[in-house]
Amino acid sequence: MFRKLIKRNKTKINQNDDLDIHNLPEHIAIIMDGNGRWAKKRKMPRIKGHYEGMQTIKKVTREASHLGIKYLTLYAFSTENWSRPESEVNYIMNLPVNFLKTFLPELIEKNVKIETIGFLDAVPQSTIEAINYAKEKTKNNTGLKLVFAINYGGRAELVQSMKSIYDELQRNGQNSDDIDELMISKHLMTHPDPDPDLLIRTSGEQRLSNFLIWQASYSEFIFNEKLWPDFDGEELKQCIKIYQSRQRRFGGLSEE
Ligand code: FPP
Repeated sequence: MFRKLIKRNKTKINQNDDLDIHNLPEHIAIIMDGNGRWAKKRKMPRIKGHYEGMQTIKKVTREASHLGIKYLTLYAFSTENWSRPESEVNYIMNLPVNFLKTFLPELIEKNVKIETIGFLDAVPQSTIEAINYAKEKTKNNTGLKLVFAINYGGRAELVQSMKSIYDELQRNGQNSDDIDELMISKHLMTHPDPDPDLLIRTSGEQRLSNFLIWQASYSEFIFNEKLWPDFDGEELKQCIKIYQSRQRRFGGLSEE
């Protein structure tokens, strides 16, 4: 009987692995790392790695949407990435245009909603226009919410949120006693989305690199060895499987 119950709660995603559809992470955040090393290994220019990285985004989005994941947040460009060579920065900045030109119809068909976090005003106008167009076209979609972090940094986000909290307190005649965790969360760029349940970083590096530093407080971290262009939907499922094997305690004690 018990075995039967367990079985009923699982879905065969493919022959080899089954995921518990009742224990999927609602929000997955990914630090897509290793594009440069992928290209270097093949004696190719770094931008080729970014191009392939963009193709991986399509694969991972398809799988996340297929599984019924609600939120997928991808770290596409950090506030620190401006220090890279100008030609590489320009190439990465143009990738959302390419991505949306080739993938927006499928995103619409899959009921995916596009959003961004980050300081978009510093991004080239053509990129902003492509993103705004995609946001507008997908604004009523109710499936996966695909969030690109572009010119995003967790510390800069916190600075901005503290400034707007200060303004709000002044406006309402309040003081620092009125600040609580909920108020801070409400002033972050990710509001009103839930915090990530699972945070994946590819390429074997084990750092947060200023990504969602407030929101990832209780996320499960998985450091995957694949370089981002080699990552795919199957690998995403493996990460979810690892996530499902863990017990999240949120600072408390486990139930067992
Ligand atoms: C990290 O690899 C990757 C980036 C800094 C850029 C990631 C951007 C994309 C995959 C494309 C974004 C596209 C859209 C649609 C928003 P790295 O260059 O740091 O790799 P390395 O550590 O091996 O040098």
